[in-house]
Amino acid sequence: MSKAAKVVAALKVEQLTERQARAEHKRLADEIAHHDKLYHEKDDPEISDAAYDKLRQRLKAIEERFPQLLDMFSPTQKVAPTPTTAFAKVTHRRPMLSLDNAFSDEELQGFFDRVRRGLERETDLKPDAEIAFSCEAKIDGLSISLRYEDGEFVQGATRGDGTTGEDVTANLRTIKDIPHKLKGQGSSKPPKSLDVRGEVYMERKAFLDLNARQVAAGEKPYVNPRNTAAGSLRQLDPEITAERPLRFFAYAWGEAEPRSWKTHSEYLKLLKEWGFKTNPLTRLCRTPDDVRAFYRKMGEDRPSLPYNIDGVVYKVDRIDWQERLGFVSRAPRWAIAHKFPAEQARTRLKGIFIQVGRTGALTPVADLDPINVGGVVVARATLHNADEIERLDVREGDMVIVQRAGDVIPQVLGFVPEERPKNARKFHFPTKCPCPLETPVKAEEGGVVRRCSGGLECPFQQVERLRYFVSRNCFDIEGLGGTHIENFFNDGLLKIPGDIFRLKSKEAEIRKREGWGDLSVNNLVKAIEDRKTIPLDRFINALGIPLIGEATAKIMAQEYGDVDDWLAEMLKAAKERKKTPDDVKKEKAAAAVGESYGRLCNVEQIGVTTADAIAAFFSEGHNVDIIEDLRKQLTVEAVKRRVIAADAALKDKIVVFTGELNTMTRDAAKARAEELGAKVTDSVSKKTSLVVVGENAGSKARKAAELGIETLTEEEWVELSGSGR
Ligand code: IVH
Repeated sequence: MSKAAKVVAALKVEQLTERQARAEHKRLADEIAHHDKLYHEKDDPEISDAAYDKLRQRLKAIEERFPQLLDMFSPTQKVAPTPTTAFAKVTHRRPMLSLDNAFSDEELQGFFDRVRRGLERETDLKPDAEIAFSCEAKIDGLSISLRYEDGEFVQGATRGDGTTGEDVTANLRTIKDIPHKLKGQGSSKPPKSLDVRGEVYMERKAFLDLNARQVAAGEKPYVNPRNTAAGSLRQLDPEITAERPLRFFAYAWGEAEPRSWKTHSEYLKLLKEWGFKTNPLTRLCRTPDDVRAFYRKMGEDRPSLPYNIDGVVYKVDRIDWQERLGFVSRAPRWAIAHKFPAEQARTRLKGIFIQVGRTGALTPVADLDPINVGGVVVARATLHNADEIERLDVREGDMVIVQRAGDVIPQVLGFVPEERPKNARKFHFPTKCPCPLETPVKAEEGGVVRRCSGGLECPFQQVERLRYFVSRNCFDIEGLGGTHIENFFNDGLLKIPGDIFRLKSKEAEIRKREGWGDLSVNNLVKAIEDRKTIPLDRFINALGIPLIGEATAKIMAQEYGDVDDWLAEMLKAAKERKKTPDDVKKEKAAAAVGESYGRLCNVEQIGVTTADAIAAFFSEGHNVDIIEDLRKQLTVEAVKRRVIAADAALKDKIVVFTGELNTMTRDAAKARAEELGAKVTDSVSKKTSLVVVGENAGSKARKAAELGIETLTEEEWVELSGSGR
């Protein structure tokens, strides 16, 4: 983030000027889109739910203050990104919507007031009449829709973007809580045509057991039960899903013909009669005070439940009232999710130690007395940097408050002053790297990060870089986990990444080591051989270039295509950058400083700062040697052009073009869409999968936004379809 952007990000929404708000709106929208992708497509989020909710809340607050910024492209108008996997697509007969969140008493009161006002307007509700709410623990899993015809389970799908999900029928059939045939006679006979909706989840214990197995097999552990459940459901082989202990609670419906029930609570009873599990933590509350009491009780019970809940859902019980209240773009007006604050606990801070990252950044880590925070044992928490320790004023020996927000990285929030022992020690940030070289620590200019100055020589950094190199999103070498890398490094078997591919010649030596039998050595050698062919994006990511992660590596691979071109361009850019004066940044004259450096600065998501980091990396002869060494041993595959992805993405999709296109005629655009397997129609309906919105678009674009259909700008369309290439 630029300095200016950092300043804006730190301001309260009320303090923003319109110009700042516009920039901040864009930044938040981009960031949310990035996290949506990690969450929905990769089942591998990098921030906590609480942090994600904060981003969305801030975006919403900006749109409330500056309504002119709200457009249909805002993440607040979308349910979730369109799924992109090998599963067949299913268009839901009724969209699967999301819920609005309430985080505070005021927000909850706002919901009660809106419901009451709405019903007074739309019905003959008297001012003091009772409105009953069905209150249900909000399970933290993933929602799915199950289709039953004449009581027979025929199809099941994930939510996807709310309109279109993925067909995971075979996997859902392996879940024992999902009946294949519905029970019920007479008045409780199931509707002829019915979509039952609910949550697939995994119990905490099952999650911990599965993760323990995952780690033992040298795989990256899953982040939390929800992502494990999502990953398990999206296995291409149903036998793998069957081995995962998934559960299901039913709580809603999509289509129901004919529908006999008049209230939500009646429906929940019927679900049980048909053979579904419904959450026992459900209560019909007749007053707001009842609702609040239920929320408090759930909050208290939460740590001891066998599964994770992240709030309570309140639904207006009467269905005729639900229908009167209706929906706003992505959520019903008759329901809300009342979220819990992140889970916290107190424990003793035994000490603080320093961890050295692959780029030399020193991170202080809290060593804690192990403590159960909402079902997960926490023994370590990041303290981020020296400033953070200063700000929190925590000392070794303190009783501290630990928070596990959305299960990602536990945090230390502060200490308990009454319980500070007399001998609590203030932490002094080391001036030397804890590695054997003990190189001096340098504070980064203008930043809070302190780094080991040992650079490429620091053995701790070398180990971290090797660990990163073999990790799941890079070379993904199974059986070469973190401790193996460290031991091999310490014993001289490995020093640089290329050594991994020379390990085969040291087979005999490895076989002599403790814990390495024939089988594990053979497996390791095979796993390494299997990775001798690697896609360009993974190759780039694995090099550990500062500021380049998985997403940027992908973009770079798309831009440069194959490894020779990429490397030649990077070396040229590094040379050009060396010659340029520092004030290039100020002048923003990136394009003028050299062709390759300019091109690099203009790649999506790479600005001057990232380009400089890349240039610095390639100016270092040692780094270039490492790459050359790898290239001699590996086949780096050129990227498949995006057109192929579009091919899959557009197959059988219904696409509508609206507004004026600038870079192509409407006919050319249509022809391209059809070439990629899409059907092009003229009007937007529930069935539409994608709307491409040109300039001066009118009602069709609005309708798309109302129905929550994915929209693309012309530019995005060109990008997706490979038009003009
Ligand atoms: S009702 C239109 N009920 O929460 C209403 N959702 O944040 C649709 N969830 O997508 C949802 N427990 O994945 C509903 N008892 C419950 C729920 C529940 C968990 C999840 C569900 C939904 C998300 C919205």
